[in-house]
Order: sequence, then C-alpha cells, then structure tokens
Amino acid sequence: MSPVVRSLEVRPARRVRGEVRVPGDKSVSHRLAMLCGIARGRSRIRKYLCSEDCLNTLRAMQALGASAEFVGDELLIVGNGGRMLPPANPLDLGNSGTGIRLLTGLVAGFPVEATLTGDASVRSRPMRRVQEPLARMGAEVDLLGEGGCAPIRVRGRQLTAISYDMPIASAQVKSCVLLAGLRAAGVTSVREPLPTRDHTERLFRAVGLPLVVAGDTVELTGSAGAPLPLSGGDWEVPGDISSAAFWLVAAAARPGHEVVVRDVGLNPRRTAVLDVLRRMGATIEVAASGGGASEWEPRGDLVVRGAGLRGTTIGGAEIPNLIDELPILSVAAALADGETVIRDAAELRVKESDRIAAMAAGLREFGVDVEEAADGMAIRGGRPLRAPSRLDSRGDHRVAMSLAVLSLFAPGPCRVEDVACVDTSYPGFAEHLRALTE
Ligand code: S3P
Repeated sequence: MSPVVRSLEVRPARRVRGEVRVPGDKSVSHRLAMLCGIARGRSRIRKYLCSEDCLNTLRAMQALGASAEFVGDELLIVGNGGRMLPPANPLDLGNSGTGIRLLTGLVAGFPVEATLTGDASVRSRPMRRVQEPLARMGAEVDLLGEGGCAPIRVRGRQLTAISYDMPIASAQVKSCVLLAGLRAAGVTSVREPLPTRDHTERLFRAVGLPLVVAGDTVELTGSAGAPLPLSGGDWEVPGDISSAAFWLVAAAARPGHEVVVRDVGLNPRRTAVLDVLRRMGATIEVAASGGGASEWEPRGDLVVRGAGLRGTTIGGAEIPNLIDELPILSVAAALADGETVIRDAAELRVKESDRIAAMAAGLREFGVDVEEAADGMAIRGGRPLRAPSRLDSRGDHRVAMSLAVLSLFAPGPCRVEDVACVDTSYPGFAEHLRALTE
C-alpha cells in the first residue's frame, strides 16, 4: 500500500515532454472482474487497474465466491462458475459509481441477497436509475439511503427480460440492465438516446454471449436461469484514455511541448477528447501500439504536440463520449484563446462530485473567467493565470488531477489539497507528473 498523500505541490513547468504508460482502463477492469468472477475456471488479466475502485470490485467478487490473486503484474481470477455465495457483509464499492451500479445488475439475476454500499460520495449519487429497470425485470431492489441513494439491498432471483428505452445516456445503466439480462428469461433489449461507451457489449461478444447491436439498440438473449456459457480467458487491459487525457492536455496547451502516451485504449466511444483537442488546434497522431493486439478493444500510441489552443463548443452527442474528460477539457479551455462552451453535460453534476461547480470554483482560483450553467459552463481563457496557494479537489480524483495540470501553467507553485482520491483511478499520477515536467 502506498502511504496516504494528502496534498500535492505542483511547480510551474517550463516544458511538458516525454513518454508515459498510463494504468489500465477503469471501465474495462471493472467489467473484467465481474465477468471473470462468474466464469468457470481461471482467467489471467494483464494491466488490470490496481486502483481503489477496481480493487473494491474485485473484493466484492471474492465475497461472492470468486478467488483472486496478483502474481507479478498479472491478476489471476478463478470464477465462481455462476454459484454466487451470499456475502456475509455489505459489499463496499468505495468511490465507484460503476462498481455499485453494475454489480447491482449482476447480483439481481442470481438467487442471492446482498447489500451494496460505498463512500459518502457514492451514497449521495442517484440510484433510482438502476432500481427502476431492475424492478421491471422482477428484482427486489431497495434503496436504503435517503432520496433514492445507496445502500442498495438486492434480492436476486429469476428475472424476466424487458425492452428498456433509457431516459438518460448512461453506460452504467445500460451495463447494469445487460448484466441483469444475462440469466433472464427472454431477450433483454436496451435502447440508448445517444451512443455511450460499449465495453460491456464488446466483452460480451468477445466471450461468445448472444448479444446483437442494431443501431441504437442492444439485444441480449438470456439463459433463463441455465448456467452461462462462460469460461476463463486471457486478457490484457489497454491504457485508460481518461488518464491519458491529463497528459494530452498538458502537452497540447503550449507550442514546444510533446508527449507520447503508449498503449491507450482507442474505443471509438471514448475518443472524442482527441477530436476536441484537434479542433482546439493540437496535433495528435495515432500510431499502432507495440503492445498485444486486441480484437475486442482497439488500442494505439498517441503522440501529441502543443500549439496555441483556441476555444471551441462541446455538446450534443459528443458528451457521453468524453464525459469523464470534461474536467481536464475545462483546463484546456482555460489555457486556450477565446471562449469555450460546454453544454448538455448536466450529468457532470452527479459524478464523484458536482464537477461543474468544482471545476468552475477551481478555475476561478487561477483567475479564469467562468460562467456556470445548469448543464455546463462557458470559459473565457487565454489570459495570464494567478498561482493559488490552495486548491480544493472536493475529494474528486479527476478534479484533483485537472487542477494539478493547470497548476503547471501558473506563475508560481500551487498546492492541490485532498489528493488521496487520485488513487481511485490513477495510482502513480504524481510520479508521472514529475517525470514529464522535469
Ligand atoms: C462509466 C460510465 C460513465 C463514466 C464512468 C464510467 C462506465 O458513467 O462517467 O466514469 O464504466 O460505464 P455514466 O454511464 O453514468 O455516464
């Protein structure tokens, strides 16, 4: 265990330069832990994200009867083969909305009872969005927190497939319903209002589950309670583009900066951050990755060269594709000439923190002109920054890392407080920051 670091001092960087390998993709790691955890036999996972969030999901799968151990840099999981053990204690998913929402769906389809909970942030996030479709499938899902929040008590059973028209564009809700649909009777179909990340669909297809995508709808034929045709396998998780985004912005912001990020997941439902940075003036090249080729998730190396950035508008169908990159894109906006408008992103208000409020407050500390809207913000960038002595991450990992990156461009040292949360998604961030700015 690394020691708990409470604050991070960031000094102005003359150059951002070098090569980096970011940790494994968070979304993929959560899903692999769940699928391998219910498979028959042994799976080997390379580059599993060893962050608090994904370790919590792994512990939950252990409590449900899987076994897991790290051998060198590989994670070995022996699945429970579909025989879910009733967990002795509540499953604690820590800070992870993905962990708690997806696992609720998975557990709902098995004859087992579990209570799922998390930290104060997770216990303040909306959970009716998963309760509602699961209840329609026949699961008993009780929200024990106030106002439709976790803890969540799930009494799983034989479910019936539904056709679900998602009211919000959420990969977590889509994945929750698909995981519940695995053992349901009938064909579960989910229609999404906008394309969201499709790691669940890709993994289901890769392991041979009967999933079909037609336009905006995903259909999965459930096993009707029969054992799932799932056996263990060998996997390698690509680097997380959401973690790479911090270095892409740091390098993109100024001429002369250049960063190479090796082996990054390039799932087309995750790459809008590249389009936005290109629109703002950055040069980004994508090269074939030296790492193991993978059919289920595209991957490659990214080379980004800095430029004088200009403002842009980010909204509409692009939003679900870059939802986790909006905090760091607001930093790019602060460093770009002209106005950047982020709209259609009300979901940001119910992430690990209210990311619109947190980033607007953080940017203002640097003297950036920001106007908040219900569903986004307008940022007028390109002016000289101040160097705030104290910055508040609000316990949100992506806010902490975004403010640390902006600090590189301030005229003096800045201190980001409350940075232990960074370990939920990017252990090693502070070391990479140092290496790229030396
Ligand atoms: C995730 C989906 C997104 C994203 C989250 C991870 C996933 O959330 O913000 O960090 O792994 O499915 P929503 O689907 O709720 O927007």
